[in-house]
Amino acid sequence: SLATEIAGIAFPNLMTNAAGVSCETTQELNAVLASEAGGVTTKSATPVARPGNPTPRQELLPLGSINSMGLPNRGLGYYLAYATQRQALAGQDLPAEVAAETAQHKPVILSVSGLSIEDNLAMLKDIQQSPFTGLTELNLSCPNVVGKAQLGYDFEAVVATLTEVFSHFTKPLGLKLPPYFDFFQFDGIAEAVGRFPIAYVNMINSIGNGLAIDAETETVLIKPKGGFGGIGGELVKPTALANVRAMRLRLHPDIKIIGTGGIRTGQDVFEHVLCGADAVQVGTELWREGPGVFKRLSEELRAIMKEKGYGSLDDFRGKLKTM
Ligand code: DHB
Repeated sequence: SLATEIAGIAFPNLMTNAAGVSCETTQELNAVLASEAGGVTTKSATPVARPGNPTPRQELLPLGSINSMGLPNRGLGYYLAYATQRQALAGQDLPAEVAAETAQHKPVILSVSGLSIEDNLAMLKDIQQSPFTGLTELNLSCPNVVGKAQLGYDFEAVVATLTEVFSHFTKPLGLKLPPYFDFFQFDGIAEAVGRFPIAYVNMINSIGNGLAIDAETETVLIKPKGGFGGIGGELVKPTALANVRAMRLRLHPDIKIIGTGGIRTGQDVFEHVLCGADAVQVGTELWREGPGVFKRLSEELRAIMKEKGYGSLDDFRGKLKTM
């Protein structure tokens, strides 16, 4: 089985979309749920809908992708209504056929990414007061809003924010974190988030502010921020694996890890789990291939597990060997 669990919430498959890909509209969210994915993550919400940055704002690269979307989203109310409706559906007594058709029991991860600490606290208050009891993912790592630093790189600000959050928020909360590159950062973020009752960390967000250019026209590939944007895909896999592994070695085992970054094949999923991932998310490759990617990745992962004689993810999760 490829099933997993986070904070008591069951995912029939450990793979979902990464926030930002195929998740802005209910149609896109439903397309992920209709695939082999084990659940769906909503586009990071702000309190009010935003159109995002000018286009072109995302491009595929030979070994990955670059984006500077600027948080285009329908506003928290839209995604909270969707998540609440899905939760109500999950509670109904439906014929097996309808249950399968509607992906009845696949959970929704509700992603929020305010442009300020006040925005984040206000959205989490709305979620706290709503009937939604699923996973909320607080995104501390959007690199694409002009003039806004990534909170995840400021450990004191992370502690201050989470102190306020947990003074009122009692539902399961995960954190989407940026990539870290130095052992002082691994130690610092683990110490900061380890003080709080978080359900999981999800890493990595894109590697911020890369630059992709077209040599022939001597021009940047995307329009916002002079061409600078978040890098994802194959290019970021070693950094993603390092972050998953570094956090698994540092955090209390009760804090789960979602591994995101550079998943193109079932072997990439296998490697994330070996580093300690409890679940994984797919961004660039989902964009490239569409929701059918989840079936291919699942088949490839099952083939590797069969070959190695592993019956469950627990047989190898976190069991990476060092020399
Ligand atoms: C956007 C990009 C991110 O990496 C993120 O975490 C949130 C938002 C964006 O540009 O929309």
